[in-house]
Amino acid sequence: MKKALKIFGYLMLGLLAIVIGLAAYIQFSAIPVYPVNPPALTITPDSALVAEGRRIVMTDCAHCHRAPDGKLSGDLWFEDPDFGTLWTGNITQHPEAGIGAYTDGELALLLRTGIKRDGHFAGPWMTFPLVSDQDLAAIIAFLRSDAPEVQAVDKPQPLADLKFLGKMFVKMILKPVATYPQQPIPTPSPADTLAYGRYLATGRWECYRCHSASFETNNDFEPEKSTGYFSGGNPVTTKEGLDINSANITPDPETGIGNWTLAQFNEAVRFGKHPDGRSLHPAMPPMSMLTDQEINALWAYLRTVPAIHHPVERNGQQQ
Ligand code: HEC
Ligand code: HEC
Repeated sequence: MKKALKIFGYLMLGLLAIVIGLAAYIQFSAIPVYPVNPPALTITPDSALVAEGRRIVMTDCAHCHRAPDGKLSGDLWFEDPDFGTLWTGNITQHPEAGIGAYTDGELALLLRTGIKRDGHFAGPWMTFPLVSDQDLAAIIAFLRSDAPEVQAVDKPQPLADLKFLGKMFVKMILKPVATYPQQPIPTPSPADTLAYGRYLATGRWECYRCHSASFETNNDFEPEKSTGYFSGGNPVTTKEGLDINSANITPDPETGIGNWTLAQFNEAVRFGKHPDGRSLHPAMPPMSMLTDQEINALWAYLRTVPAIHHPVERNGQQQ
C-alpha cells in the first residue's frame, strides 16, 4: 500500500514537472525561426501583369493590409484578451518599415508558405499555396509597381503582442505550409468553367478557407478534404474582436444557397447584398472587382460541391 502511494506520488510529481516545464516553454522560449530557402525567381513586370496584380491585391490583401489612409502600410488586425494583439505588416516599398528589402523569391516563399524573410511564420491566414505562378507574379509585380498604395511609408508595424494562448498557438500548433511547390502551377483556362471555378474558390480567392468548418481543419493542398467543405460556421474574427460565422454556400436548398439565383449570388459576392435586402457583414469582404467570368465560374463550381445540410447561426447580417 505504502509503496503504491509512493509510486502514485512520484507519478504526480513527474506530471507536475512536465506541465510546469511545458508552460515555461510556451511562456519564455523564443518564437520559432524556420529555414528561409527562397526559389530563384525574377518577375518581369508588364502593364497587364501589374493591372491584374492590382485587382488581386486590392481585393484580397488590402482587406487586411490597408491602413486608414488607404496605403498598404498595415493596420491593427485583431485584439483578443487571451490570444493577444496582432498587426498586419507594412507591405509598402519602404526598405526597413516595409518590404523593400524582400527579393522576388523571398516574397514568393512568404506567400506560398508563410515564412517571412526573417524566418518567422506570418500565420496561416496569409498563405496562398494553390495560387497559380502567374497570379503570384502579378501580385509581386503590383507590390513593386509605382501605384500610390504601395509607395514607401515609414511606419514600422508593431510585432505581435501574444498572450499565453497566442504563444501556445504560435509555438505548438501553427506551422508554415510544409513545402514550396516543385512543379509549375498553371491558371486553368477560363474556357474550362468548372476547373476555373474550382481554382478561383480554392486558389486565387481562397473562398473555402473562411467558408469551411475551421481554419485549423482546412487542407492546404487538397481543399476538398477540409472538414465541412463550404458548409460554413467558421468564426471569422474581425478587427473589433467579433467572431462572425461564415455562411453555408453549398447547394443545400435549406441551409445553403441551393435556392439562390446567379444574380443573387453576384450581388452577395460583389456588393455584400443578401437576397433578403440586408447587408452582409464586412467580415465577408465585398469583392466588386471580380469579373463576370469569375462570378459565373464560381457559381457553376459551387453548384457541384456536395450539398451539406448544416444550419449556421447567422450573427453577422446587418439591417
Ligand atoms: C487575413 C489577413 C491577411 C491577408 C488576407 C493577407 N495578409 Fe499579409 N499579413 C497578415 C498579417 C497578420 C501579417 C503579419 C504577420 C507578422 O507580423 O508576423 C502579414 C504579413 C505580410 C507580409 C510580411 C511583412 C513583413 O514585414 O515581413 C507580407 C509581404 C504580406 N503580408 C503580404 C500579403 C499579400 C501580398 C497578401 C495578398 C495576396 C496578403 N498579405 C494577405 C495578414 C494578412
Ligand atoms: C475572410 C473570410 C471570407 C472570405 C475569404 C470569403 N467569405 Fe463569403 N462570407 C464570409 C462571412 C463571415 C459570411 C457571412 C456574412 C454575414 O453573415 O453577414 C459570408 C457570406 C457569404 C455569402 C452569403 C451567403 C448567405 O447565405 O448569406 C456568399 C454567397 C459568399 N460569402 C460567397 C463567397 C465567395 C464566392 C467567396 C470567394 C470569392 C467568399 N465568400 C470569400 C466570409 C468570407
